[in-house]
Amino acid sequence: MQNKFRSDRYDPTGSTERDDVSRRHFIKGVIAAGAVAGTATMVTGCGGSGDSSGGSAAGSVERLITLNVNGMARNVDVAPNETLSHTLRNKLGLTGTKIGCDRGSCGACTVMIDGTTVNSCSVLTHTVRNDEVTTVEGVGGGNGQLHAVQEAMIEELAPQCGFCTPGQVVSGVALLNRNPNPSREDVRQALAGNLCRCGAYNNYVNAIVKAAGRA
Ligand code: FES
Ligand code: FES
Repeated sequence: MQNKFRSDRYDPTGSTERDDVSRRHFIKGVIAAGAVAGTATMVTGCGGSGDSSGGSAAGSVERLITLNVNGMARNVDVAPNETLSHTLRNKLGLTGTKIGCDRGSCGACTVMIDGTTVNSCSVLTHTVRNDEVTTVEGVGGGNGQLHAVQEAMIEELAPQCGFCTPGQVVSGVALLNRNPNPSREDVRQALAGNLCRCGAYNNYVNAIVKAAGRA
């Protein structure tokens, strides 16, 4: 869809009727997403601190792009300085991704990009257009089926306040994807970037060790 849009835009031969329909469909989807985003922003007044809020600074240019998020193509308008965490939460409605520090220190915003964990508050959205983004909403199966890591966290009563939990889940799932039989030390290393103000670290490690072999 993204390539289609871009080729339409720069096609020197001009648009065909079919191209126009495709582009109209694309923009319709973008506007619909933007309308939802505008409402969410008004309600929450959020967007993190500083420039990463994604608001349109004077002179900035909005760009229409397609993201691959949790296996779905999502059309969205993003500012050049907009972070992925902002886009996910405030434009795509994926609020499982949390924003704690908004500066790459706490891991609350952890998502996977092509299977590798990143702090989405420190990634510009437009740089991941060609990548697969997986959020905590996308780690389980269809019909709301939980991932083995999530089930084990429930069994172990791992979360306390729960704010850091989505990041812990994503880091745990990424670990088991690349190493189905991790040692306890492997788990600790994998969660090292996920801070927990409630100090529930042992609970999370216990859960992921328990989930290993089930995933
Ligand atoms: S919110 Fe991204 S690392 Fe803290
Ligand atoms: S459970 Fe509260 S911050 Fe981790």
